[in-house]
Amino acid sequence: MTVPLAPSLTLTNGVRVPLLGLGTWPMNDDEAAVTVAEALRLGYRHLDTAENYGNERGVGEGLRRAGLPREEVFITTKFNRQWHSVDGARQACEASLARLGVDYIDLLLVHWPNPDQGRYVEAFQGLVKLQEAGRVRAIGTSNFKPAHLQRLFDEGLVPHLNQIQLDPWHHRDDLLAIHHQKGITTGAWRPLGCGNAMLADPVITAIATAHARTPAQVVLRWIVQQGIIATPKSANPLRLAQNLDIFGFTLSPAEMAALDTLDRPDPDMLDADSFGH
Ligand code: A2P
Repeated sequence: MTVPLAPSLTLTNGVRVPLLGLGTWPMNDDEAAVTVAEALRLGYRHLDTAENYGNERGVGEGLRRAGLPREEVFITTKFNRQWHSVDGARQACEASLARLGVDYIDLLLVHWPNPDQGRYVEAFQGLVKLQEAGRVRAIGTSNFKPAHLQRLFDEGLVPHLNQIQLDPWHHRDDLLAIHHQKGITTGAWRPLGCGNAMLADPVITAIATAHARTPAQVVLRWIVQQGIIATPKSANPLRLAQNLDIFGFTLSPAEMAALDTLDRPDPDMLDADSFGH
């Protein structure tokens, strides 16, 4: 089985990113190699990894096993707090390139702002230099809250993308408004929620039944239909295919609006002011 390729959207610097990608946390190298090769065979063209996932070697191995030309696959990775300096970003990038076994990265992100350390502006300045040097095609942040983005804006810096936890139970409307205003593309991590609770939400299951789709497909469709990039993780070939197969149906305005009502407080949500690595 193969699934048609996902459509792409264009970042402010003209780089095109497939709207649906493969999340790889918490796969180890061996799982990532097998799953990435299978995902690319199915039709995935966007892979999301990170230094902290410990699986960049496996992601690179899966890419080689699939045998696709490098330029047909979009690779996102992220670096940890110890590299939050201009030269640190360069070292982190070189290390990721070596582990992945590629000679450029499509999108490199500061993984968490780590405001206690207070060096994410320098980390981002390092990303700007890497983009100028052609080692990365686009640059961004992950888990940045409005105040963290504002510090970048104050220095004249704007990420191409901010990847955040986002799903129907976690809307992040404050961030989406800022992203929209500044032309920052939004990426959604953990788009299927934590555990299976959200996928059993009766509003989601009713819409899924109406479209003869699964709850996961409805959630992913709700995300990409807003022009937000989703990177769901699955290690299961059937669910991998299902998660990519979301571009053949459309949610109505009323269905989108119904999903928009599901936001709720989450006391367990990771807070980038206190959590980071
Ligand atoms: P599996 O790999 O067995 O498919 P996260 O978004 O935090 O990475 O979590 C994704 C979780 O959702 C994984 O446990 C994954 O399990 C599961 N999952 C992925 N795709 C689907 C799907 N289409 N339906 C239900 N669960 C899914």
